[in-house]
Amino acid sequence: MNILVCEDKNSLALRAAELFLKIAHESVDERKRFVVALAGGSTPEKTYRLLAAPEYATQIDWFSSYLFFGDERFVPHCDPRSNYYMVAHAMLNSLSLPSGHMLPVRTDLPTPEAAANHYEELLLSFFALSDRTILPRFDLILLGLGDDCHTASLFPGAKALRERDRFVVATPPGTLPPHVDRVTFTLPLINAARNVVFLVSGSNKAQPLYNALVERPPLWECPAVGVRPGDGELFWLVDKDAASLLPPELLKKEG
Ligand code: 6PG
Repeated sequence: MNILVCEDKNSLALRAAELFLKIAHESVDERKRFVVALAGGSTPEKTYRLLAAPEYATQIDWFSSYLFFGDERFVPHCDPRSNYYMVAHAMLNSLSLPSGHMLPVRTDLPTPEAAANHYEELLLSFFALSDRTILPRFDLILLGLGDDCHTASLFPGAKALRERDRFVVATPPGTLPPHVDRVTFTLPLINAARNVVFLVSGSNKAQPLYNALVERPPLWECPAVGVRPGDGELFWLVDKDAASLLPPELLKKEG
């Protein structure tokens, strides 16, 4: 497990953008494409803005890159609570991403369940899988950590935590805002990824980060403990405020 402590939010965003670039280059070099699932919430926004800046955007082969969402709020894409809305304003609107390379959750469908089923079918066809026995393998899945130790939209006590067959499910709101239905990757899909990167910043994340990395309560209480990529790399990019409760022996200082 790679835990990198960054000085502050800006340094965290820089390191995250660099790691994104590195994984994108490796993926295209080795497999001719880069398939990534973006995290929602507010922490990754700085990273997305950096990736859309010419200094980084010109280093990414967008024609070989495919952007999905690890979870989505079941609201219209024009709603500020939408993760797509956040990504569009932070990154997409500044990029000329070729069509078909950004694959959002269809929150215009009638129900969250319909959106989850549609997204699952989209993954099956994108990865050319005939059924659910083989898991789609993302090159990179970005995740955040909620104050309640949730990740993606896998909330404490949620039925979705027990899901072992589906890749994408609908799930009711958690206790934290926004209190809207969600569509989320499940743990089997997250853990099939080649690289999983948590981005965690702020003193309000110190306790959940300590819980996820040190105390490790049951999955039911702390969904983030369920993220253990079986044959992949797990990175925690955290800032000093979030890392303030972590024991020094656990940490690798920012290089
Ligand atoms: C969401 C996110 C969620 C987020 C965490 C952390 O849709 O809300 O995917 O899992 O990553 O809640 O959010 P912040 O980065 O805003 O603290």
